[in-house]
Amino acid sequence: MTVRRIITVASGKGGVGKSTFAVNFALTLSRVAPTVLVDLDTGTSSIRNTVDAPVERDLYHFFRKGEPLERCLTRLPDKLDHEGHFKNFAFVAAPQHAIEEFTNLSDTNRVRLIRAINQLPATYAILDLRAGLDASVLDFLPHSNSGILVFTPHHPAATMAAADIVKALLFRKLRLVFSTDGPLAATAGAPSQLATINALLDQVEDSYDGRIPNLDAFLADLFEAFGDAPVVRALAENIASFGVFFVLNLFDGVKESFESAVEPFVRLLQSQISAQIGIHNLGWIVNSRDVHESNCRKKPIVLTPAPASQVHHDPVFADLLTLAGLPGARSSPPKPRSTVDYLLSIDAEHALIDQLDVLNAMHRDPAALQVRDNFAYIARRALHALSSLPPDRFGQRQLLTPFELVQAVLRAVAPFTPDSDAGVGAAPLP
Ligand SMILES: Nc1ncnc2c1ncn2[C@@H]1O[C@H](COP(=O)(O)OP(=O)(O)O)[C@@H](O)[C@H]1O
Ligand SMILES: [Mg+2]
Repeated sequence: MTVRRIITVASGKGGVGKSTFAVNFALTLSRVAPTVLVDLDTGTSSIRNTVDAPVERDLYHFFRKGEPLERCLTRLPDKLDHEGHFKNFAFVAAPQHAIEEFTNLSDTNRVRLIRAINQLPATYAILDLRAGLDASVLDFLPHSNSGILVFTPHHPAATMAAADIVKALLFRKLRLVFSTDGPLAATAGAPSQLATINALLDQVEDSYDGRIPNLDAFLADLFEAFGDAPVVRALAENIASFGVFFVLNLFDGVKESFESAVEPFVRLLQSQISAQIGIHNLGWIVNSRDVHESNCRKKPIVLTPAPASQVHHDPVFADLLTLAGLPGARSSPPKPRSTVDYLLSIDAEHALIDQLDVLNAMHRDPAALQVRDNFAYIARRALHALSSLPPDRFGQRQLLTPFELVQAVLRAVAPFTPDSDAGVGAAPLP
């Protein structure tokens, strides 16, 4: 058996509740199908510190003892799961102590782990990534979307860090597509075009260099140089199909969250990357002492029964599978018919209004302010995205090694290379 869909959870910054979210989200998904949570924050081993389960084997055994990853799964003991609702949940614990070799994985170890995660016996694999933007983080992120980003209205720096992840992901992909020894290098006239494109990309990526502020401006420059060339259109499609999915932790009201987190996030993505990126809010988790106390008791909040005064029906899971009527997630991105279409359809205000609509719609849901219900709500929206979007838009099927990523990019851009699409509108470099 191999894993069906992989969802990474990242934040860029620590302390925003990424692990808290990942654990409770994975537990909730396991009510629907077998789910494995993998603790890739190998420096802090935070999952095993918030789940009171005896760990027999962890990533240490995988790396050092040659144990298959599926033999390193930990399941919940009965005392955490009295009613047996979470039999389909398992996690892979990080090593108990920070060990340099596992904190900064070597290339070989990363590839081994990527292969093993792809083979996990589960429908869903949730990866709790560490903070930061090095290869140990980037290599586990999908190349066509952001996984799930967690940030909070309480840390402006966390919003910046989340936007930085999106930028790093998208640029990593563009660097591969346009690399001077990459998939496009073999096409006629390409080396000098690619060199120009890379020089321009350097300027876009450097946020201190204001000459080309973002990818939309970059695209406009390319359009001026090459016309509606296949390479230019490939870039437009790459940007327009890239999806960002996020969760707000420590939610404290629609107005506050919009002003201090969502709006700055959207504006950052628009000004530094592109006004055309799809941005999807999957939900929020309220700031609740119960969440923190559950973590401290090592019994995550969704395993802790709600106090009698809060119980209505089966509070969290009653309608987990009711996927109808969810706001947000446009199922297919507007596909630019031409580069001109793309450039003309740039509309920065629209994305902000969309985000406010989504926040207001979520607030009308009765589950909005009950923390246990928050996770069901997010799981429902994630399941909706999984069922309505192809795996390259959300919930990829496989993690790719850097080599496989280049192969995938090569396949994806093949129809756009001048060789196979004989020079539609392609102009030589001036
Ligand atoms: N929604 C919440 N309400 C209250 N406390 C929270 C919430 N989410 C996380 N916390 C607390 O915030 C701290 C950081 O959470 P953690 O999940 O470890 O963050 P990260 O993985 O991003 O470093 C922990 O003490 C946790 O108990
Ligand atoms: Mg953590």
